[in-house]
Amino acid sequence: MTKIKATNITWHEGHVGREERETLLKQKGAVIWTTGLSGSGKSTIAYTLEHALVQRGHLSYVLDGDNIRHGLNKNLGFSAEDREENIRRLGEVGKLFVDAGIITITAFISPYSKDRDIAREAVGTDSFFEIFCDTPLDVCEERDPKGLYKKARAGEIKGFTGIDDPYEAPSNPEMVIDTSKVSPQDAAVLLCEMLEKAGKIPQLAD
Ligand code: ADX
Repeated sequence: MTKIKATNITWHEGHVGREERETLLKQKGAVIWTTGLSGSGKSTIAYTLEHALVQRGHLSYVLDGDNIRHGLNKNLGFSAEDREENIRRLGEVGKLFVDAGIITITAFISPYSKDRDIAREAVGTDSFFEIFCDTPLDVCEERDPKGLYKKARAGEIKGFTGIDDPYEAPSNPEMVIDTSKVSPQDAAVLLCEMLEKAGKIPQLAD
């Protein structure tokens, strides 16, 4: 639980609201929250979708776990407590981006269901789409793009998700994608269709 230390603070309402920004952008703010093991294809899907959306004329932005840990969250490690704080902050960042009207795509392992639920609550469930990258561990380990599984198996990294740290699969995600079977381009098409159906972006004119 986050200890609240901020006291004597007052909320300041601006003159421009979410709706006005969304009208300006011709889209509605949303968070596409990908979750899954390291190497499961979260970042690849996120950047492919971002590219597809921008090509369609939409403002989209990726928040990627490794990148965020270079800056905003560089003071957090990989204990359950630090992962919780990582996800809590990113849920709050997602909430701000949605208020800004941006289609935000996140790529965090986010291994704990409870932490993902907190992010969903922060963003608002109508604007939150949990996408489970359900790629088998052996495929992720075979890909090993950063050589981290090898190090984890050798005992050089402790508490690596999927090896000696838990991953809790989503029980009710908006979409499940196994990237050993679905290409990033096809995944981006499916996700654009999902956003169209949810009224977040208009359908493409024929
Ligand atoms: S999360 O669990 O807190 O959501 P996050 O997505 O921000 O993780 O960061 C995961 C990335 O950190 C991995 O893709 C990997 O490159 C790196 N990493 C370093 N140590 C670990 C670890 N112990 N477990 C998982 N990923 C790790």
